[in-house]
Amino acid sequence: MTLQPASTCTFRLLDGFQRRDLLLEDALIGGAWIGAQDDARFAVTNPADGARLAQVADCGPAEAIAALDAAVKAGPAWRRTTPQARRQILKRWHGLLMANQDDLARLISLEQGKPLAEAAGEVAYGAAYVDWFADEAIRGDGEILASPVLDRQMTAVREPIGVVAVVTPWNFPIAMIARKIAPALAAGCTVVGKPAEDTPLSALAIARLAQEAGVPDGVLNMLPASRLRGAALVGVWLDEECVRKLSFTGSTATGKFLAERSAPTLKRLSLELGGNAPFLVFDDADLDVAIRGALAAKFRNAGQTCVSPNRFLVQAGVHDAFVARLADAAASLKVGTADEAGVQIGPLINDKAVQKVEAHIQDAIARGARVVQGGARHPLGGSFFQPTVLVGMDPDMRASCEETFGPVVSVTRFETEAEAVTLANATPFGLAAYLFTADRKRIARVGAALESGMVGVNEGAISSEVAPFGGVKQSGYGREGSRHGLIEYQTLKYICEGGLD
Ligand code: SIN
Repeated sequence: MTLQPASTCTFRLLDGFQRRDLLLEDALIGGAWIGAQDDARFAVTNPADGARLAQVADCGPAEAIAALDAAVKAGPAWRRTTPQARRQILKRWHGLLMANQDDLARLISLEQGKPLAEAAGEVAYGAAYVDWFADEAIRGDGEILASPVLDRQMTAVREPIGVVAVVTPWNFPIAMIARKIAPALAAGCTVVGKPAEDTPLSALAIARLAQEAGVPDGVLNMLPASRLRGAALVGVWLDEECVRKLSFTGSTATGKFLAERSAPTLKRLSLELGGNAPFLVFDDADLDVAIRGALAAKFRNAGQTCVSPNRFLVQAGVHDAFVARLADAAASLKVGTADEAGVQIGPLINDKAVQKVEAHIQDAIARGARVVQGGARHPLGGSFFQPTVLVGMDPDMRASCEETFGPVVSVTRFETEAEAVTLANATPFGLAAYLFTADRKRIARVGAALESGMVGVNEGAISSEVAPFGGVKQSGYGREGSRHGLIEYQTLKYICEGGLD
């Protein structure tokens, strides 16, 4: 097939970037930056004002196949590199990500909307996974087994799983893709990736930096695509036998579809899906700590986070004090555009997201909840929304059953610990849960009872490259980060060597 050469840059808002070569609009396939076969493009816009930022290559099945060919071709040489060599490349990539932190943060803010300081934090967060997995590359040890027969040596060795497809969301345009690519490369796998249609620019920029760090041609391929073409593109990867693993972060509905579609080729899957995190505050909690935790967990990325608390369950004795303090704190959060000094909350990703938040609030009010703070679009207009606090929630309301994915605190009052645990677990989801109490025995009891992949105890900021990130129940399976994150990209081969006497 013939692929188009890189197009003329149509990138807008070039001011303020140190490295304009990080503003990319083409796909990376086999080491070359190229447009789609038919030169189709789609617009990437700024959620703060709808301004068009760039016209990005709209990749489809033809490009999906070309990328796969490149990844398959590059596979044997890459898996033969030493773990030490892969470590060095990943270390260089980490260095480049941090050296270009300001430009990358600016890109994230432009296409995703989060405040610049928070975006810079995301770059460091994503880069930390690269640094972590650089080191994990040299720790992918196998085992010598205790052979029950004297003339045999039995070993179990770890091997790269093969070509990996990664499909990532818009809420953390760099961190989510970095924490999939880094362990895949560390393990010796080659990668085909599709970033979210809303936020491909940051992913393309970090792919360029990976090239600069020494990732060989074809080892990492990055294909932007619109919603329409993206489905067909990923469909090709799902059907192909040579794709041995798919790592996806996104909705539970899409995760189920991907699991079904990858069943005929029995791909290994990592699915980091939706959450509905409970945030439990007991009467004996330190309220300063609980409020700090609530602000960190709930309003990070304007509430557009899978681990964002979706249901605040607060014990009767501290309910009113907690709500009053959180409402005051929420009212004082600064909403605005990413580059404004002191801004803490940016716009939501698009109007559809705002409509969902509005629908949840209206549904809650119609069923008896009360708004104590915010509750409406922000005077700034567009997709800006006021930090909101609702009380009098009950388990049947939409905001209790579905992820709101916006800056909304929904509070339910409870009386007993048993009631709190029952409410917390009354969901098909199980990604994160939070628990605030000073009672160590309660921490042990409730921590064990919560049906959730991750639990924050007196802490709202739980994500870290050293920890296994992932869920249970319909929040998916597989873990990202920690030593478990590397194993996801490896197979275990048992070798039995006989006749050694
Ligand atoms: C997510 O929202 O899916 C990821 C959040 C995190 O890594 O903390």
